[in-house]
Amino acid sequence: MTEMRAGLYLGERTVAADKVAKPVAGEGEALIRIAYAGICGTDMMIYFGKHPRARAPLAMGHEFSGVIEEIRGASSFAPGDRVVIEPTLSCGECEACAAGQFHVCKTLRLIGIDQSGGFAEYAAVPLHRLHRIPDKLSDIHAAVTEPVAVAVHTVRRSNLKLGDNVVILGAGPIGLLTALVARQGGAHQIIISDISPYRLEKAKQLGFTVLDAKHASVTDEVASLTGGVGADIVFEVAGNQITAKQMIETVKIQGQIVVVSVFKQAPTIDLAAMHFREISLTTTRCYSNDDFKKAIVLMRDGTIDVSPIISHLLPLEQIHEGFHLMEDSNASLKVLFQL
Ligand SMILES: NC(=O)c1ccc[n+]([C@@H]2O[C@H](COP(=O)([O-])OP(=O)(O)OC[C@H]3O[C@@H](n4cnc5c(N)ncnc54)[C@H](O)[C@@H]3O)[C@@H](O)[C@H]2O)c1
Ligand SMILES: [Zn+2]
Ligand SMILES: [Zn+2]
Repeated sequence: MTEMRAGLYLGERTVAADKVAKPVAGEGEALIRIAYAGICGTDMMIYFGKHPRARAPLAMGHEFSGVIEEIRGASSFAPGDRVVIEPTLSCGECEACAAGQFHVCKTLRLIGIDQSGGFAEYAAVPLHRLHRIPDKLSDIHAAVTEPVAVAVHTVRRSNLKLGDNVVILGAGPIGLLTALVARQGGAHQIIISDISPYRLEKAKQLGFTVLDAKHASVTDEVASLTGGVGADIVFEVAGNQITAKQMIETVKIQGQIVVVSVFKQAPTIDLAAMHFREISLTTTRCYSNDDFKKAIVLMRDGTIDVSPIISHLLPLEQIHEGFHLMEDSNASLKVLFQL
């Protein structure tokens, strides 16, 4: 049996770099020699033992780039091609899939959750999940395509129009990427809140108006920054009861709330406060294949620069360190492993 190095989830708060069997590409799959892989909030959910589907031992990681080592089946790709993986796996048969809406497949699965992923030397992935990395885009930046695609999908699901005032609650990787994409989408004033000084500083450096949610009233500050009107669009990207309340308080009459967060605990939502002001609420999940392609082009052309989002680059052997860093929102943003 040929072995490879992998970063494994072994149980609640237990990860380790260890040897496992090297995957074998089946028919219609490619074997990828992985270059870089990022830790995402979903990996943290697995790490905390809270993911409903992840089963130990598992090589986590659904944000990764690499080089094709072997191809099994007809494809326009060739061994040696640099690729980034779109990790969603759809059933192809449910109502959503039949309508071409594969990202909201009834039984959507992900590489790195439902099967071995990117925290490893190799991954076997379906050929139709491969995207070519353009020459101008580095492997390291390409590894961040997935969260950029989330931001692209999020902004495209919003009603954002040129000149709109936008509030983003939460300056994590997804909040900051949503802010960067919204700026390209024509947003005028972008106000972003967080409780982490480190992340607020990042947001400030990126040119956004920041609100320290620990020391100021986000609702009052947004009112004063928008002439008492409120935001045209509020993106909720923090995922807790406080921001679930603020999203309603900070949006204008007939404005739109876009909930991006995956709430770990169901929040209480004041629907009466929404109804009087005809507030719309939109949810968003993952990204379409087209969003993923758009994310690559935006990064290729420098329209979206992901380098400020990458806070740490570690060897896979430091998987403990990587997860500890990600636990502290005041110490990290996106942690990448170099394979
Ligand atoms: N819709 C999707 O398909 C999709 C995809 C990826 C991530 N997500 C979700 O998006 C959310 C954000 O992802 P992330 O990776 O940026 O997570 P993250 O945990 O790194 O970011 C959340 C941020 O919210 C901040 N925060 C906490 N309390 C706050 C408060 N009261 N006010 C303002 N900010 C506060 C935290 O300090 C942190 O910086 C998560 O819930 C994640 O699960 C959804
Ligand atoms: Zn992700
Ligand atoms: Zn389906």
